[in-house]
Amino acid sequence: MRVIIVDDAAAVASVSAEQIARSVRELRASGRAAVLGVATGYSPLATYAALAGLVRAAELDLSGVAAFALDEYVGLDPRHPESYHAVIHRTVTEPLGLDPGLVHVPDGAAADIGAACEGYERDIVAAGGVDLQLLGIGANGHIGFNEPTSSLASRTRIKTLAPKTREDNARFFDSPGEVPMHCITQGIGTILDARRLLLVAQGAGKADAVAAMIEGPVTSMCPASALQLHPDAVAVIDRAASAGLVLTDYYEHVERNRPPGAVRA
Ligand code: GLP
Repeated sequence: MRVIIVDDAAAVASVSAEQIARSVRELRASGRAAVLGVATGYSPLATYAALAGLVRAAELDLSGVAAFALDEYVGLDPRHPESYHAVIHRTVTEPLGLDPGLVHVPDGAAADIGAACEGYERDIVAAGGVDLQLLGIGANGHIGFNEPTSSLASRTRIKTLAPKTREDNARFFDSPGEVPMHCITQGIGTILDARRLLLVAQGAGKADAVAAMIEGPVTSMCPASALQLHPDAVAVIDRAASAGLVLTDYYEHVERNRPPGAVRA
């Protein structure tokens, strides 16, 4: 995994936005619009804002770019302000000026959730697969809503949220009891199918999860550790989130001395 350690959250946003912009531009140069995987949560918000800045400055063209969200609550009206349909619309689709018809979020209100999950997998394939998947990481190492012990080969499916995740997400709702119990999430296998993975993490609260993801064993106890299996995974983390890493000096040495022409992890 490529590990880029930067000073603060602002630098995480600018460096990750530049990584995404570069992928989008490379694909555009090869004649097609990118398919982006997008995440909810606080972690990527500043990245989206930085991307929106590039679009406004006419430094980045996102026309025709499609997006697939990682997850959605089950049983929450898509019009609820905290449904991921609404969150993705507010934080990604609108500020980046994406065509809403090209932005996909799993259907947590479907009568047949199993069929909705299978349909979501098919939609990703039909779009040509995800070129770059942006990820945050939960304090317990989850990615998307793949909680610890999720199969590393899992596909899009319905899951029960861990009590800690419901507690963490209670801040978005009027009362903890309102946080849905179930969700649809892309599986870890689905996420690993993306051609490039870009994980962002900021703050000391993520330090243990980041260390387990990068330097721990590959284990379903830390779903994010599955990124070690991906040939083009990049983690952009701030100094506080890097506090649990042992090999910090090595990562910084490698970043100062990237081999000529090495643009990939
Ligand atoms: C949420 C989301 C994840 C996100 C994670 C961390 O529950 N389903 O996609 O990465 O938890 O959230 P935050 O970035 O707010 O810390």
